Amino acid sequence: TSAQIGVTGLAVMGSNLARNFARNGYTVAVHNRTPAKTHALMQEHGHEGDFIAAETAKEFVQALERPRRLVVMVKAGGPTDAVIEEFAPLLEPGDMIIDGGNAHFADTRRREAALREKGIHFVGAGISGGEEGALNGPSIMPGGPAESYESLGPMLEKISAKAADGAPCVTHVGPDGAGHFVKMVHNGIEYADMQLIGEAYQLLRDVAGYSPAQIAEIFRTWNTGRLDSYLIEITAEVLAHVDAATGKPFVDVVVDQAEQKGTGRWTVQIALDLGVPVSGIAEAVFARSLSGHASLRDASRSLAGPKATPLSAAEAEAFADRVEQALYASKIVSYTQGFHEIDAARAEYDWDIDLGKVASIWRGGCIIRAAFLDRIRAAYDARPDLPSLLSDDTFAQEIAAAQDDWREVLVAATRQGVPTPGFAAALAYYDALRAERLPAALTQGQRDFFGAHTYRRVDREGSFHTLWGQDRSEVGA
Ligand code: 6PG
Repeated sequence: TSAQIGVTGLAVMGSNLARNFARNGYTVAVHNRTPAKTHALMQEHGHEGDFIAAETAKEFVQALERPRRLVVMVKAGGPTDAVIEEFAPLLEPGDMIIDGGNAHFADTRRREAALREKGIHFVGAGISGGEEGALNGPSIMPGGPAESYESLGPMLEKISAKAADGAPCVTHVGPDGAGHFVKMVHNGIEYADMQLIGEAYQLLRDVAGYSPAQIAEIFRTWNTGRLDSYLIEITAEVLAHVDAATGKPFVDVVVDQAEQKGTGRWTVQIALDLGVPVSGIAEAVFARSLSGHASLRDASRSLAGPKATPLSAAEAEAFADRVEQALYASKIVSYTQGFHEIDAARAEYDWDIDLGKVASIWRGGCIIRAAFLDRIRAAYDARPDLPSLLSDDTFAQEIAAAQDDWREVLVAATRQGVPTPGFAAALAYYDALRAERLPAALTQGQRDFFGAHTYRRVDREGSFHTLWGQDRSEVGA
């Protein structure tokens, strides 16, 4: 017998993905650089389905039916290149290498182009949902050649998460690096969601005076409404957890320095290159970096802050409702910014990405899965050329209804000295977009003054320069 799919790289994600394929009835060839992991997988889970354990790269490739489908689940970067270098010479035209890691999309573009020369299909596939998702159904974002999806797609659809309406959370996102690009933005949005939730928590604690256990209850309630999502759900779990050793809330015994593996940072770096304002995602990345500057924070603890004014129980309750509004409005803005970045990449790289489809495959399996994504899907389905999520009537109306509370929350945060960069950036983005006039006109004037960089006028076509150092008359440029 031969295997319909192979997985190389059997750390948790790889072995769970292999088990997922096997549990869905596929024969799966498994391989790892050090065979010990392959043996362990066979020993512990071999009975779950049909596996073929391969000791060597050659055995692994020979175990696969043609065209071969070879899933690579190793660390992004050098290790991925090393695996490709090892396997590519053993493959034939038409075979597929599927990179399921968190690769940078530029690397995926490079690898795809190089393998295309050999007739090998390289499919950079974003996979979200962590260990649990890999095993029971992740959200999958494959790029690469469209032909590869014909034979690969049905298999991915089988192992993927299903949305509430039963639709599989996978689609051919677009060519070459499009899948990894979309996964990158998923992670950027994940960072923003997490930051906004963190700010909501801090406000409920420091302004409203609630305990972590009480805040867990508030999040549980929110999770039954429009904020219904995996991240809100697990936030309640984390906040309700009590440390066994000390009896303190778990959240109080964890060092408050957030780490990151880089995908959120990439989202911002690429957005800078594309000229897309993803300010909410950027603030989320910066907030993590700031938290990690321990000595800077130590040196700053004595800086002056405002006097705290405690809220009454009734005020605290009303404030919590306002925080829900602020969180929801800010969340709409983060997704608006993330989708704008995908839209910009679509134009830049000539990728035919269906934004409604992207929202649709994020409805289940992935870390940002949420009821909310079905609404985004509906917005793009109703109007595929939607210039921005904020132009959707429903979202615009919801923000209109939330904005007074959103502003009040930021007033309270500012007055009480609670940092809320995510909420603030989201509101600034919203206000900037709706502004009749922006001070960018003044910026242009300054640039023209010091560098003769020219400006355009509101009333005439063309570029102009004012002779600032002479008689201040205007000349065409
Ligand atoms: C997912 C997650 C996954 C990973 C994050 C963690 O979609 O399943 O996003 O890819 O857990 O990259 O990112 P940080 O370590 O950067 O927080």
